[in-house]
Formats: sequence, C-alpha cells, structure tokens
Amino acid sequence: MATQEHPMPRFPDGFLWGVSTSAHQIEGAAELRERSVWDEFTDRPGRVKDGSTAAVACDHYHRYREDVALLADLGVGAYRFSVSWPRVNSPGGLDFYDRLVDELCAAGVRPVVTLFHWDLPAGLDWLQRDTASRFADHVSGVAERLGDRVHKWITLNEPAEHTLLGHALGVHAPGKRLLFDALPVAHHQLLAHGLAVRALRAAGVTDIGIANSHGPTWPASREQADVEAADFYDVLLNRLFADPVLLGAYPAGLGELMPGDDVEADLKVIAEPLDWYGVNYYAPTKVGAPQGAEIEFGGVSMPADLPFSVREITDVPLTDFGWPVVPEALTELLTGFRDRYGDRLPPVMITENGCSYEGVDDRQRIAFLDGHIRALHRAVAAGVDVRGYFVWSLLDNFEWAEGYARRFGLIHVDYPTQKRTPKASYHWYRELLRAQE
Ligand code: BGC
Repeated sequence: MATQEHPMPRFPDGFLWGVSTSAHQIEGAAELRERSVWDEFTDRPGRVKDGSTAAVACDHYHRYREDVALLADLGVGAYRFSVSWPRVNSPGGLDFYDRLVDELCAAGVRPVVTLFHWDLPAGLDWLQRDTASRFADHVSGVAERLGDRVHKWITLNEPAEHTLLGHALGVHAPGKRLLFDALPVAHHQLLAHGLAVRALRAAGVTDIGIANSHGPTWPASREQADVEAADFYDVLLNRLFADPVLLGAYPAGLGELMPGDDVEADLKVIAEPLDWYGVNYYAPTKVGAPQGAEIEFGGVSMPADLPFSVREITDVPLTDFGWPVVPEALTELLTGFRDRYGDRLPPVMITENGCSYEGVDDRQRIAFLDGHIRALHRAVAAGVDVRGYFVWSLLDNFEWAEGYARRFGLIHVDYPTQKRTPKASYHWYRELLRAQE
C-alpha cells in the first residue's frame, strides 16, 4: 500500500471531491414513506445478519441539517445521496428532498442525486418490463421539482449488484435466487437507465451519468480453464453493464438471452449519450474454473454449477468485511477501461470507494483512502480523464444484509443515541481537500 510520507499529488483543476450515501441506508423515518422491497426482505427472518431493519437507520430524515453541517465542515464540493422512490410516492416525500437540496446549496455543497439505489417500491418487480417506464415517469417528477438546483444526476446505482445479489443469488432484496434467469432484471434496469436519461433531458437538466460497480477480474492461474472462467465473470460483472451503455451492444451471446421483441431498439435507448460515467470501486476478484462444489464466498453461497468459482486473494490486507485491499487495481481498472472503450468512454467519476473498519481512530481507513486516491492519480497521470472522487460513506449506516455490523463511515454513528462523531479519517480527508484547493 502507498505510504503517506509523500505529499498527495495535485489533481486537475475543477476535480470534484465528495462523499456518498443512499436513502434506505441512512434516512430512517420508514413510517413516513411507502414500503420498499428492502422492507419486505428485512422482515423475513434470517435475511439481515444482525436482525436489524432500516426503520430508523441514522435518522437522517430528521437530522439532515446536522449532517449537512458536517458536510460543510468537511469541505466537500459535492454530496451524493439517493432519492427514495417509495418516499416520493408518499405525501410530502419530495418536500424532504427539496429541503435537503436547499440546505446543501445554502452550505455551498453541490447536490448529486442518485435516482435508484435498490429500494424499489414493494409491489414493483424488475422482472416486469413496465417497471422501466414507471421509473422514467418517476424520474420526470423528481427532475421537475429539483432540476433547478441539482448539480449532477445518476440514474441507477450498481444494477450489477442489484441483479446478481438481489435476483440471481438471493442474498439482497428482493431475495430471488434465479441464477441466469435473472438476466431480464439486468435488461429492464438498463432500459430504465436509458429511459431515465431521456426523461432527464426532456426536463431540461444536464450532467447525467450512471454509477456502475466495476473491478478487475484476475484469473486464478494461466491455465486456459481459469482464464476462460475469469473472462466469463468479467462479462457478468463488468461488460454486461458497461458495453450496452457505452457501446450500445451486449457482449457476444448475451443479447439473444434478453427479453423483449426488439432488443436492438432497446439498446439504442440504453446507449443514450452520457455526460460522464460513474465507477464504484471496492476490490478486484480472483476467479478460476468451477470447483464442483457449493462454496461460501463473502457470506454468499455460490452454487456448484456456476461456470466459475471465486477464489481468495491472499497476501494483501483485508478490511473488517474481509475484502482485499488492492489500491493498484483501481489504476488497472481505469486504464483497462480506457483501453477497452477508447473515445466511447466519457469522463469518469469515482462515485464510490471506501472500506469497513471498526473504531473512531480509523488509521486503516486513512491508509485505504490514501492508497486509492494515489492509485487514482496514477490513472489520471496515465491519461484517463477522471473528474471526481466520492468516498463511501459519509456516515456509518445500514449495510444491507449485514445490518449495522459494518461501518463504512467517515463519521461514527452511535445508533442508540444517534450521536455523530467524526473519525480520524474525516479529519484526514478534510486536510486533503484543503491541500487540493
Ligand atoms: C453500494 C452501497 C454499499 C457499499 C458497501 C456498494 O455496493 O452501492 O450501497 O453500502 O457498496 O457494500
């Protein structure tokens, strides 16, 4: 890992520094909104490890002023948060985001809005094609109300994880274990993305992107079977969601598996030009040939008949979540993206990067962020057009199926009292931002 002995190199002028959150993970005030697929999932015993729910979470809905003050004190240029569709469907729901956006603008922090971060209204289903057009209608309403003040728009957060974890493996909401029959969920979300881009443009807003999760896929060895398995995994995690958006095509063989009468016509919608492309980066994945047995990986049980198997990455530090810490894989990812997509890749923003560690004196998080920001700079120096970086996350929060057991925040939250305590990493990031001014 890079040391902190050398000064952080300067990023280009206008580089946007921020932090990210999502509605379901922080807002609470669940009684003031409709239910989402995550509420239904959480109510099923055993689905969330510590048995917790997001009913209160960080109570951000009531404490947003305090949280915006912390953002202003941190000195970020932008704050990425998501608008909850179930809240917007409820009386007064959009008023909350109106107040939040005003508060951010008054504090000099630019609002960056994610329009879907996994909390689908209960009763809707991404297996259904019309969920895509319903999403576009919802987006029009949000853009009409907030469009005059929002700095950047993100259509979807990580459709890959929502498809794979939520619909293929069943460890996230809505808890379906459809394996490859989950492919329509990918297509309908991608279609929703394209329709949302059109809805946003029709509403007259600019500066639109997506937040896709990506990571290098490393073959377990040079054996052909391992290389082929790793390529397959790379298609599922990376290319299935980037190729249609950036190239207007599915990776070979996948287009035929997608639902609908005219997938080619859908791809034209999906490939609506973007102003920038958001990358969420956490870790690379090592992948080898199938091992013929159901294996547990990262808390997910992987069926034996998948055409690949995920392997441990050894000899690197691990976060408290057990994720490998490999900053240089961020440089590899971005230069690889530039080489793969060439001038079809718009400017890139890192819309999430972060780690789970316990404690307020979180030196490991500082080392993680320091290493990754230096790795990002190496990608910039190698000519990748990167325009911004957002830490996941502002606050410790409801970490999906892990409940409150994982702490990703720059700010510690004591859930019984809701007291916020900035961690050492918060102070470190503030100094970094000042030095970059
Ligand atoms: C998601 C966040 C999540 C984070 C850490 C990303 O996949 O967008 O909602 O909390 O990773 O797991």
